Amino acid sequence: MRSRSGSKSAEPFIDGVAKLLTAIDEQKLPNVKLRRGDARDLIAQFADASLDRVFILFPDPWPKTRHRKRRLVQPDFVAELARVMKPGTKLRFATDWADYADRALWAVLSDERFSWTADRADDWRTPPPDHVTTRYQEKRLGDCVPVFLDFVRA
Ligand SMILES: C[S@@+](CC[C@H](N)C(=O)[O-])C[C@H]1O[C@@H](n2cnc3c(N)ncnc32)[C@H](O)[C@@H]1O
Repeated sequence: MRSRSGSKSAEPFIDGVAKLLTAIDEQKLPNVKLRRGDARDLIAQFADASLDRVFILFPDPWPKTRHRKRRLVQPDFVAELARVMKPGTKLRFATDWADYADRALWAVLSDERFSWTADRADDWRTPPPDHVTTRYQEKRLGDCVPVFLDFVRA
């Protein structure tokens, strides 16, 4: 998540925190705030219209039907995103699990404050020019090619 004061990231697992700290150190990034915890708790603390950009890149897919309620992108979370994002800013969701792509698209577009920027299939099949390939993406563990869904917050 990006705001005027820099990037903010939440990570619930200690090994993920360690990897992020190492990357921040190696790349000498001066403007990253990292919090160990759940992104849903973090976002609840943000002021209305305070974020310039949100990336949700390859979130845990929870592919088993009985686990899907654990997925991050759900209507309640989308409503919180709409609250904290500034008008006109972008949300990107990427996954390589087809069912998660379908359900995330439905969840985001169910909130009338978001619109999908895609005009044709290449817009979601091709990595956007500003996308940085992630470690999980490279593992190709999903059941479809990566899809990139960009939305604009009205
Ligand atoms: C499949 S990994 C992908 C990591 C990275 N985005 C990538 O593409 O390489 C999912 C990541 O999301 C984190 N995560 C899962 N649920 C989360 C939540 N509710 N809040 C914050 N982070 C979460 C996990 O700890 C893990 O680091």
